[in-house]
Amino acid sequence: MCGIVGYIGRKEAAPVLLEGLKKLEYRGYDSAGIAVIANKKTTVIKTKGRIADLEKKFEGKIPKGNLGIGHTRWATHGAPSDANSHPHASNSGKIAVVHNGIIENYLDLKKMLIEKGYKFASETDTEVIAHLAEMYDDGDLVNTLIKVVKDLRGSFAIGLIHEDHPDEFVAVRKDSPLIVGVGEKENFIASDIPAILEYTRRIYLLNDLEIVHLTAEKVEILDLNKKKIEKNIFEVEWDVEAAEKNGYEHFMLKEIHEQPKAVQNTVTPRIVNNDIVFDKFSIDESSLKEISKIFVVACGTAYHAGMVGKYLIENFARIPVEVDIASEFRYRNPIVDKNTLVIIVSQSGETADTLAALRESKKKGAKILAIVNVVGSSIAREADDVIYTWAGPEIAVASTKAYTTQLATMYLLAIKFGLLTKNLPTSRARNLIKELREIPAKIDSLIGSLKEIETMARRHHCEKDIFYLGRGLDYMVALEGSLKLKEISYIHSEAYAAGELKHGTIALIEHGTVVFALATQDELFEKMLSNIKEVKARGATVIAIAKEGNEKIKEVADEVFYIPNITDALTSILTVIPLQMFAYYCAVDKGCDVDKPRNLAKSVTVE
Ligand code: M6R
Repeated sequence: MCGIVGYIGRKEAAPVLLEGLKKLEYRGYDSAGIAVIANKKTTVIKTKGRIADLEKKFEGKIPKGNLGIGHTRWATHGAPSDANSHPHASNSGKIAVVHNGIIENYLDLKKMLIEKGYKFASETDTEVIAHLAEMYDDGDLVNTLIKVVKDLRGSFAIGLIHEDHPDEFVAVRKDSPLIVGVGEKENFIASDIPAILEYTRRIYLLNDLEIVHLTAEKVEILDLNKKKIEKNIFEVEWDVEAAEKNGYEHFMLKEIHEQPKAVQNTVTPRIVNNDIVFDKFSIDESSLKEISKIFVVACGTAYHAGMVGKYLIENFARIPVEVDIASEFRYRNPIVDKNTLVIIVSQSGETADTLAALRESKKKGAKILAIVNVVGSSIAREADDVIYTWAGPEIAVASTKAYTTQLATMYLLAIKFGLLTKNLPTSRARNLIKELREIPAKIDSLIGSLKEIETMARRHHCEKDIFYLGRGLDYMVALEGSLKLKEISYIHSEAYAAGELKHGTIALIEHGTVVFALATQDELFEKMLSNIKEVKARGATVIAIAKEGNEKIKEVADEVFYIPNITDALTSILTVIPLQMFAYYCAVDKGCDVDKPRNLAKSVTVE
């Protein structure tokens, strides 16, 4: 949830840390800080606010030194304030730590440390790490960190520097992301690749409780018994531009425009001779026969993609599917056994609740298939099978291209399962595959045809409430459209299954209430038309989304946006595009911070 960076090498550390933190700001942005060691002295500078506020605090005097750690925070323990910002220093001021995660037993540790005379300067859980390190300091940084780690419960990615050790630093992770970047006479740690991609593409992916010992010359990875662990270097294939705005005003807009490419990269390599082929995938006809039930487990936007997955897998493969919010699934003792397939969906691959649901299901004997965007993330590594969504780095907090590539993957998977169970006739599968291939071009032309959305957003960005209605797959997209609007424009919004509205919520519709009516499902169109009439009769302003050529919709809706023609099962990937753009332009018109909406962070690594 927070972002951390660490550097040791020949360069001045502070600018490297600041640039790195800017790339990680999507992970949290309520305070920031760095600690640098020079002339055997630790300097900590931190502030409430963003990296830009931190830079102002230097007043042109960036602290010198070739070793340092940095942090950008998403507050959990203690409000955003200078004191609660990281790095946190030990009482002697020699040790500084940055941390991402939650130390669950920090109150017990804090009590013990206070009894021993340690003074606390913040309300954070993290500060116990700095004092524990001072308590255990035996002149060997690795020993010290191991002793600290043995006392901690919870999740953590930690970077620790000590002014008595100006040529080395240490780091560790457990249930929070941390990678190591290997450079030429310089080495790095970071919460995510973009922070260090400017300097190196050579990465070590860490497992839980691996201790990293870094000098400028080398990186050692050790277990808690100080036994060396040999690891392969992972070479990052995408480049810096993929994580830059490239002339777009916001990452979100850039990522909306990247969807044709992202979907193409996700779909095309998997289509081989009218069949669907995944790389790390062991499910075949006989193993699928053993599966009596599928769960799709995810959070937020990924959960919405999971809902589409349920609909398609049940339709094409006739296997029962339940979709669950990860934070609910893990605590409700779901009926999961070795005949269950659990599909875990996550852009980041690090979402704490989703990862916990994966582990819980694994313990119960289920087979785990992950649909993940970040290569080498915890979820990708712990799953039995992985299908990567090749969306490239998604920086904006609001998910767009990750969602559409998750949908594309659901299409592929549902077709694959349909073919394996023989419940999907090959002729139908062939037609679906043909249409799948055409989707990237359709997204491209759709984005180009939606100029009017910008003008429409200008008319509606001051609304207090906006409703989204749909039936079947359209309802699932309505949920995603509504989430997009809420999270970046702060307009209150609800999504409803159109047939359900009359059971209560229709009471909220009054003269001028804006209602998005998604009406792309041919089979359900007549029913949807009735629901549109119901809200129109109560004074709603209806903005409809329908398939090209649908003239009937014009008779009832105030405005219509058309998506290119496509079979009902595959509409979602197109229907969501105008909704993403509407949310984007409303947020811009309201002057919101589109890429970093309030109270949110991109990667939710707390429970
Ligand atoms: O990284 P994940 O896909 O596991 O993240 C899940 C949600 O936190 C995420 O989709 C969130 O809802 C987005 N901000 C939505 O735009």
